[in-house]
Amino acid sequence: MAVSYKELGLVNTRAMFAEAIKGGYAIPAYNFNNMEQMQAIIQACVETKSPVILQVSSGARKYANQTLLRYMAQGAVEFAKELGCNIPICLHLDHGDTFELCKSCVDFGFSSVMIDGSHHKYDENVALTKKVVEYAHQYDVTVEGELGVLAGVEDEVSAEHHTYTQPEEVEDFVKKTGCDSLAISIGTSHGAFKFKPGQNPEIRLDILAEIEKRIPGFPIVLHGSSSVPQEYVDLINKYGGKMEAAIGIPEEQLRAAAKSAVCKINIDSDGRLAMTAAVRKMFAEQPGEFDPRKYLGPARDELKKMYMAKNKNVLGSAGRVK
Ligand code: G3H
Ligand code: 13P
Ligand code: ZN
Repeated sequence: MAVSYKELGLVNTRAMFAEAIKGGYAIPAYNFNNMEQMQAIIQACVETKSPVILQVSSGARKYANQTLLRYMAQGAVEFAKELGCNIPICLHLDHGDTFELCKSCVDFGFSSVMIDGSHHKYDENVALTKKVVEYAHQYDVTVEGELGVLAGVEDEVSAEHHTYTQPEEVEDFVKKTGCDSLAISIGTSHGAFKFKPGQNPEIRLDILAEIEKRIPGFPIVLHGSSSVPQEYVDLINKYGGKMEAAIGIPEEQLRAAAKSAVCKINIDSDGRLAMTAAVRKMFAEQPGEFDPRKYLGPARDELKKMYMAKNKNVLGSAGRVK
């Protein structure tokens, strides 16, 4: 049976993004696949008084089941209230690749969907995005489109090089599709290995500025924005892992982007690193432990600490919920 996100206490991205553009900050978009990740995200965002976008990928749907994730997001609304702050929470489909998937999420209580047609030809991307927008807007669900292809693996499609977003296409794309926000490719990429040793980890803020000039005030999204904190890589390697040459996006570049039209920043890999580092440390120090709460608990605490720091120091979203 179809359900509207409004009945679940969730919100779409429209007001969030308008506030973020006005205030010169970005909304955190954190992926979740299980209860501990969801708890850490909500605890961190309540404690820092930050709005939040809970992201569900196709991989998350396969791993955890869409129904369970939806009910967890619904529970997150009550959980946040119990923790003392009614923060705006959006439930977003990350990298939707078909109309049918986006439709099923709209019908099932998601408040925002991404249709990622960036691997298609321009006209096909426009047509697919427009079709999703026309459906989603009937239910006041907001839609993120994408122009340009990130290097690395995206939507189970892998690209060796970045295809940067062409600023001259954005105005036409936004006008023709009616999308509410636009993900762009300016040098970020998914995963923990974004740059090779010796490479300058730099995103193309000049392309971002050019895009902003063409569509002033339009919400821009950055995917692949993990910073790959060296302390987590070191901890993982210290306690038996093997993650050499993992390099991410420097936080100061994300901070600069967040002050501009970028109003949604996607972070997943850093959360994986934080949890893995905490779990490895725990097992190394207490090899006799076998209660999942004893290793998932510290992983959840580390994740929460990291998200709080992101909200305060990188995205600038802390303290925005009054
Ligand atoms: O954009 C990719 C996100 O990090 C989700 O990754 O498809 O492995 O869940 P996933
Ligand atoms: P990271 O792999 O850099 O965390 O990016 C996540 C993302 O873009 C989710 O859509
Ligand atoms: Zn992404």
